[in-house]
Amino acid sequence: MAEFTLPKNSKIKGGRTIPSPQPGGAMRNFKVYRYDPDSGKNPRYDTFEVNLDECGPMVLDALIKIKSEQDSSLTFRRSCREGICGSCSMNIDGKNGLACTTAIEDVKGEVKITPLPAMDVIKDLVPDFTHFYAQYASITPWLQTVTPPPAGKERLQSPEERAKLDGLYECILCACCSTSCPSYWWNSDKFLGPAILLQAYRWLADSRDEMTGERLDALEDPFRLYRCHTIMNCANACPKGLSPAKAIAEIKKMEVERIV
Ligand code: SF4
Ligand code: SF4
Ligand code: FES
Repeated sequence: MAEFTLPKNSKIKGGRTIPSPQPGGAMRNFKVYRYDPDSGKNPRYDTFEVNLDECGPMVLDALIKIKSEQDSSLTFRRSCREGICGSCSMNIDGKNGLACTTAIEDVKGEVKITPLPAMDVIKDLVPDFTHFYAQYASITPWLQTVTPPPAGKERLQSPEERAKLDGLYECILCACCSTSCPSYWWNSDKFLGPAILLQAYRWLADSRDEMTGERLDALEDPFRLYRCHTIMNCANACPKGLSPAKAIAEIKKMEVERIV
């Protein structure tokens, strides 16, 4: 596993410890990365004490409790609270994951929380996804066809064809994998990274799509696809249990098979 890398604009200095307004019970410290670019100050860590007897079981519950009771300026993304939207991805105790599906009891001692590594930070735990989404748009992530659909019918798939999308369609674009990938840390300007390549394969594997050749042409590039060196951090990081490395291997296989 590669060493943890702080967000790009990090230079930790100082910080503060904020005591819980409700001491007693099962207290736990949460050491949280704080950064407000508008303040002109360097990033810091703040430590918040949380009474776990009065808190839900997940790391996201603790963050919501801290924001509600101790510091309303603490900034993070969340929406579904069910591991579906991908909004609450962050680095918890040195591992990328979803705050809403990471149990506090699975973290020993102080819970250290930082934004996803190697991305610019907008504020506190909110990384800037602009480049990631532009890369997603670049793979044209929608069904593309040239032939008209059968008259009066949808474009159907057999159960076997549909099964080829299992392990791909579940991706929630949380970027936990891409921001765990050393190749993406160093070359994210050109390498698409595991999340976007898994999404690219999702369309290559779709029996209804008729742009396979064009999709493979767009990926065949020393950087966009071939910067993956099969380090496998991506598969370890995925909170949905997916394997972007396997999807990338399938794309490479398709590239080779159309040449021979
Ligand atoms: S297998 Fe490829 S995409 Fe996944 S972490 Fe390694 S280099 Fe990155
Ligand atoms: S493959 Fe997994 S870790 Fe990567 S973006 Fe999709 S859901 Fe997140
Ligand atoms: S809040 Fe939606 S995945 Fe965590």
